[in-house]
Amino acid sequence: MTNPTITLDGRAVEFTDGETIYDVTRRVGTDVPTLCYDDRLEPFGACRLCVVELEGARNPVASCTTMAVDGMVVRTRTEGLERHRKTLVEMVVSENPRGVEIDPLRGLASQELAHLAVQYEADGSRFEGAQSGRSRPDDPNPMILRDYDHCISCYRCVRVCAEQEGDYAISVENRGFETRITTEFGGFLQDSACTFCGQCVQTCPTGALGDQRALAHADAPGDVERTRSICPYCGVGCSVDLLSKGDTLVGVQPAMDGPANQGALCVKGQFAWEWVQHPDRLKTPLVRVDGELVPATWDEALDRAAEGFRGVVERHGRHAVYAIASGRAPHESAYSVQKFVRAGFMSNHVDNCSRA
Ligand code: SF4
Ligand code: SF4
Ligand code: FES
Repeated sequence: MTNPTITLDGRAVEFTDGETIYDVTRRVGTDVPTLCYDDRLEPFGACRLCVVELEGARNPVASCTTMAVDGMVVRTRTEGLERHRKTLVEMVVSENPRGVEIDPLRGLASQELAHLAVQYEADGSRFEGAQSGRSRPDDPNPMILRDYDHCISCYRCVRVCAEQEGDYAISVENRGFETRITTEFGGFLQDSACTFCGQCVQTCPTGALGDQRALAHADAPGDVERTRSICPYCGVGCSVDLLSKGDTLVGVQPAMDGPANQGALCVKGQFAWEWVQHPDRLKTPLVRVDGELVPATWDEALDRAAEGFRGVVERHGRHAVYAIASGRAPHESAYSVQKFVRAGFMSNHVDNCSRA
């Protein structure tokens, strides 16, 4: 039995049941533009940028919502389609009063509209006029910028909140130019079901949502550099991209291809990173002298700790020693902690806060 096949831009391509035309184009590396698409979410079919020509169909179809069917003949890059896409991008860009700009601090996906505007040489001048969205500069939360003047009503934020986070903290009200992204009763995020996971920020393709903490570093000198790492907070091991300017950490973005998190983070991993460069962060060991903590060398501090442990074991026995390794510590340190307790004190009283 032969596998089902479609003809994609003149080339025969096999597909498997359940694949959309867009899934097939992605798999074989054919570039089809999208705006309302996020591969973690159910296809939505709102922006129509992913349209393709289908032989026998009267109008172009959205490839993200059209299932591949054996024998289909599909064209992805005709002159007509590119004209259509340019017009769509122009209309979307006209929704952005400040214009679209590449701003890596606004959100991982926020580059999408900016890149499309460059690709299609699109500005909003042909469609200047009414705009939807209404920003919420009054929202006092210190984490998420709600700059809905730049919203294009793709609803990716609403969908990621419901489908990925299961929070349903935000929703859509009204229609047409009155469309608004809102919380229940139009209140602030902190009074809603929001867990501040930041997924809406990361999926937003326009920068209408931004990371306030990262944006606070917008004026720091230097270009933003990206370094792949692992979130240190717990044992899940979410992959993150650390954004830095020189020696300053300026933001964290979840890795969409992170095997453990696939674009998700919790509030700590997403927004609680300033401690890395906090002035109160300890940089040297401290020991208590006459009740006061004073800086010490590592040898002094380790001798003092050893003395304390020895005293406890002498007075109360080996089971009086109990160690909890920090979820922020790397695996090697966690291993050393359990070895220290097991081999050093002959006790199994060890744990790790990542289990909590
Ligand atoms: S931060 Fe997370 S929970 Fe809050 S609105 Fe965005 S997606 Fe929903
Ligand atoms: S805020 Fe961003 S993600 Fe949400 S609907 Fe508007 S443009 Fe889309
Ligand atoms: S990506 Fe298919 S309609 Fe938006």
